[in-house]
Amino acid sequence: MSQFQKKVELVRSEVIARDVVRLTFNAPEIATVALPGQFVMIQIGSGQDPLLRRPFSIHQTASSEGTLQILFKVVGRGTELLAHAKVGEQLSLLGPLGKGFVLGEPGKACLVGGGMGIAPMLFLASRFQQQSKKGVVPKVILGARNSEELLPLIGDFEALGLEVLAATDDGSLGHHGLVTDVLKSINLGPDFTVYSCGPRPMLAAIHHLCLKENIRCQVSVESLMACGMGACLGCAVPLKAGGYAHACSDGPVFEAGELLWSL
Ligand SMILES: Cc1cc2nc3c(=O)[nH]c(=O)nc-3n(C[C@H](O)[C@H](O)[C@H](O)COP(=O)(O)OP(=O)(O)OC[C@H]3O[C@@H](n4cnc5c(N)ncnc54)[C@H](O)[C@@H]3O)c2cc1C
Ligand code: FES
Repeated sequence: MSQFQKKVELVRSEVIARDVVRLTFNAPEIATVALPGQFVMIQIGSGQDPLLRRPFSIHQTASSEGTLQILFKVVGRGTELLAHAKVGEQLSLLGPLGKGFVLGEPGKACLVGGGMGIAPMLFLASRFQQQSKKGVVPKVILGARNSEELLPLIGDFEALGLEVLAATDDGSLGHHGLVTDVLKSINLGPDFTVYSCGPRPMLAAIHHLCLKENIRCQVSVESLMACGMGACLGCAVPLKAGGYAHACSDGPVFEAGELLWSL
């Protein structure tokens, strides 16, 4: 699989909601070969602070324009600096990294994104939409804390012709509660596959629901990462069969049933 380490130009920076930023890079080599669920490691700053690259899911690509987007929340030093990167600035991107989602039939797919776990879902939704025949598209469930965070992102899915079922913690948009409530309510059949990314408790709940309903479930997990390439052993995730996998190189997307969820 092709991977590149490139200095690329930041061509657009958008504040989507409070502390949520979308960056667009001119990165044709990476954008052309990237698959939904893969990620990039970004070197932030030119000195030693922060020392390590930070991982971000690929949010969207436009191969014809050679652009790649990330969507992130400011949580610490690295993301704070990244949020203030200037259009025209050159940043070093490494990617695409990791294993992405395995795409099945668009009409038998249900995408569930929570919080910043929505980031890789747009890229996945676009690929499904491109593959869909006769307008058969996946179901999409998105959750966030409130409408301010969710509304701008829903627009991107609707622009692809997809209907979004929303859930918010404060009830300001869609279902007042969890994405898992919505997932339960739509009664998917066992011929569906759920594709999910979000906080670990959300992924665990989705895995258990799918297990009960005999539905295949793929999850994209987050873990602290230093190298992003399987070299530092920093991103170990425990497996149900015993032992560990590297989230960066064996994942970040796994069959939910392969992982140990009790830890
Ligand atoms: C494969 C992968 C894809 C990711 N995609 C996205 C994305 O699309 N959008 C997004 O907003 N974030 C994403 N993350 C998380 C993102 O990498 C971290 O938020 C970022 O590295 C924090 O850097 P920082 O320097 O701002 O924070 P730090 O100062 O390093 O940490 C601040 C806080 O964030 C926590 N944190 C740091 N890294 C992670 C992590 N990897 N997972 C969970 N908590 C972490 C720390 O424990 C600490 O509490 C992804 C992580 C992985 C592993
Ligand atoms: S981040 Fe180094 S092995 Fe995964």
